[in-house]
Amino acid sequence: MINSRKVPIDITPDKFRKIGHELVDRVAELLGKMNEIPLTNNLTPGQIRELLGADRPLPQKGKDPEGILSEATNLLMKYSLYNGHPGFWGYVTSSAAPLGMLGDLLAAAVNPNVGGWQLSPMASEIESQTVRWIAKFLDYPTDCGGLMVSGGNMANFIGFLAARATVAGQEIRTGGMQTLAARPMRIYASVETHTWIQKAADLFGLGTNSIRWIGTDKKQRLNMRELEKTIHEDIQNGERPMIVVGTAGTVSTGAIDPLDDMADFCRKRGIWFHVDGAYGGFAAVSSKVDRAIKGLSKADSVAVDPHKWLYAPLEVGCALVRDVEKIRDAFSYHPPYYHFGEEAINYFDFGLQNSRGFRALKVWLILQQVGREGYVEMIEEDIRLGEEMFKAVEKEPLLEALTYGLSIATFRYIPEDLKSRTDDGKIADYLNTLNEEILVRLKRGGEIFLSNAILGGQFVLRGCIVNFRTSQAHVEAMPGIVVKCGKTVDAELRKETALSS
Ligand SMILES: Cc1ncc(COP(=O)(O)O)c(C=O)c1O
Repeated sequence: MINSRKVPIDITPDKFRKIGHELVDRVAELLGKMNEIPLTNNLTPGQIRELLGADRPLPQKGKDPEGILSEATNLLMKYSLYNGHPGFWGYVTSSAAPLGMLGDLLAAAVNPNVGGWQLSPMASEIESQTVRWIAKFLDYPTDCGGLMVSGGNMANFIGFLAARATVAGQEIRTGGMQTLAARPMRIYASVETHTWIQKAADLFGLGTNSIRWIGTDKKQRLNMRELEKTIHEDIQNGERPMIVVGTAGTVSTGAIDPLDDMADFCRKRGIWFHVDGAYGGFAAVSSKVDRAIKGLSKADSVAVDPHKWLYAPLEVGCALVRDVEKIRDAFSYHPPYYHFGEEAINYFDFGLQNSRGFRALKVWLILQQVGREGYVEMIEEDIRLGEEMFKAVEKEPLLEALTYGLSIATFRYIPEDLKSRTDDGKIADYLNTLNEEILVRLKRGGEIFLSNAILGGQFVLRGCIVNFRTSQAHVEAMPGIVVKCGKTVDAELRKETALSS
């Protein structure tokens, strides 16, 4: 092929091969020592900016790509936080599958625009197959509508918008929210629901006051009676239930709402039932998880997050809508400048994006590498380790074990002399401050990474295992690390805080 145009952005195949191989070697090296390197280093934003040279102006003239890529590799490999480290148990963030990394490289190399079928024939079909495989994995109808999005929030938004268009009818797409004034729509979700629900209510015009927050039981699961009663009252008052949201694995404690009962109730009442399975949805493959999770397969829409429990590298979420027409009804427009035909899925019809990258590839690759059985094994091992973490905490006298659900354990550090006085308001405040500071120090320490939850007003530490590098030994070492840190922080804080005995 003739390419006579000299442009500063192209790279010769030989050069590409050379610098590409060097990069792959560096990545392989990193993966080989993930168990040994510090999880992160204790640098401030100012120090990181200095190392980056954040004040450097944009170069007027371009530079050799080899040096730039090598500099970026050095910076990122030395000064990152590694969620692939075996001691990373923060938030719901998984270690990344190596094959997925190569998948992202291949996707960027072919660069299909998976918005339209004609622009991405093989990629679009791979995405459709991935959606069908994920649906099958979850025991969800494989003829559902579905697509890859950037993550759990976006996947939940897809379900939310499909519900909105279905319940409000097409007038909401033309007349907007004004059409709702006479009969406002309501959203039902437990108080433990992730913040995506507020963003959705806010961004998509209903407003956060439209959310009916339903209480939970002792295990943080939605209270079914309260849900039924609230919906009944709203209908009596002339309001319209738009969506009931159940969570398969709450972000704080891994609670599974009574999804089966919720699905049956919603079906009887003709109310849209959505399941947020961003964290725990894939655990439905395990027969060891609370059977309530099976209700996910009866939902009108489901959000799952391959970049969590399928261990795909960021970013990739997946939305499934039982009736494919409902997803089209929510998003489809046919402008005169698009002539893509109807014979295949054009993904711009299915969601918020127009041009779309090929996120599905990494998921498609790792689903085949691991297989269903491999995932059952890995997810069950993470769950077992979550329980082991909880048990290890129970054995440690200076830690109070609080909850265990799916692969999340919550607990807090309580100094020996304060154990009998936790009901005293001043002591309760001190314990919150103490545990908050312990979390900060642990994060800086680079040995393990925990996050937190607020349980009954208490600041508690939280370990969530969606990490295929974590082993029994890592989990058993955790309480000792927390206690050591807790003793140091407590001694320091006591000097500043007068606690009367
Ligand atoms: C239950 C739940 N829903 C939604 C989300 C949001 O997912 P993402 O961060 O991929 O947007 C999370 C994230 O942790 C989650 O745990």
